[in-house]
Amino acid sequence: MNGLTRRDALSSFLLGSAGFGAALATGCVSPRLARATPAAVPTAATASGSGLAGAHHVVPLPFAAGSLHGLSERLMLSHYENNYAGAVRNLNRAEQELAHMTAETPPFVVAAVRERELTFRNSKTLHEAYFGNLGGDGRRAGAIDTALAQTYGGSARWEEHFRATGLGLGGGSGWVVLALELETSALRTVAMANHAQALAMSVPLVVMDMYEHSYQMDFGAAVPRYMDAFFANLQWDEVNARFDRATKAALVVRGT
Ligand SMILES: [Fe+2]
Repeated sequence: MNGLTRRDALSSFLLGSAGFGAALATGCVSPRLARATPAAVPTAATASGSGLAGAHHVVPLPFAAGSLHGLSERLMLSHYENNYAGAVRNLNRAEQELAHMTAETPPFVVAAVRERELTFRNSKTLHEAYFGNLGGDGRRAGAIDTALAQTYGGSARWEEHFRATGLGLGGGSGWVVLALELETSALRTVAMANHAQALAMSVPLVVMDMYEHSYQMDFGAAVPRYMDAFFANLQWDEVNARFDRATKAALVVRGT
């Protein structure tokens, strides 16, 4: 991977996604969009150089799939190969369709594909952040522990907030995210009912998948047991690295 570690690669995706935001679905790009393409429209490869290239790659897991505590290899591989990699594949297909968009493309077709594009893009980003903050020993430490204590009156109190937010999404879908808000550098705990709901202008620091596919295979409907396993495997070194980069990025964004 050109000298980058897997976790470095994941981290670079995260900083590239400040202001993330997006909903899940299976592949559904419209063939009508492609059919609307006149001959003079640039191809996906030349339309933008990168923005609509449909060339996103599946990032390797930063840990061995069978190495986590309480989260089975079968669950992790299914989640990675089906849900995450599926989102990447569908994002590529959506971008390839959008590269052929013209003024003649029916607006309702554009709207539908744009919604899917955002869904798959955020699914990709959030899944990479999720897998990227697993593989640790779950011991809170470092600057983020101090910052959480200052914000919530104790980092354990923050975890209580975070878990309660997860319970609120249990049995359904969504994400719980601890984010750094770029406009203020404040830490925010956010509930997202789907991929499309996100705190604008923020960088995800701790990301917990609450779609049932992330726990049902191992825990059934026992959401608290899943969250126990999530916190037991949380990679706080990665969270601290994200916090450090996000804090610096916030200063740049505000021009201070
Ligand atoms: Fe997921």
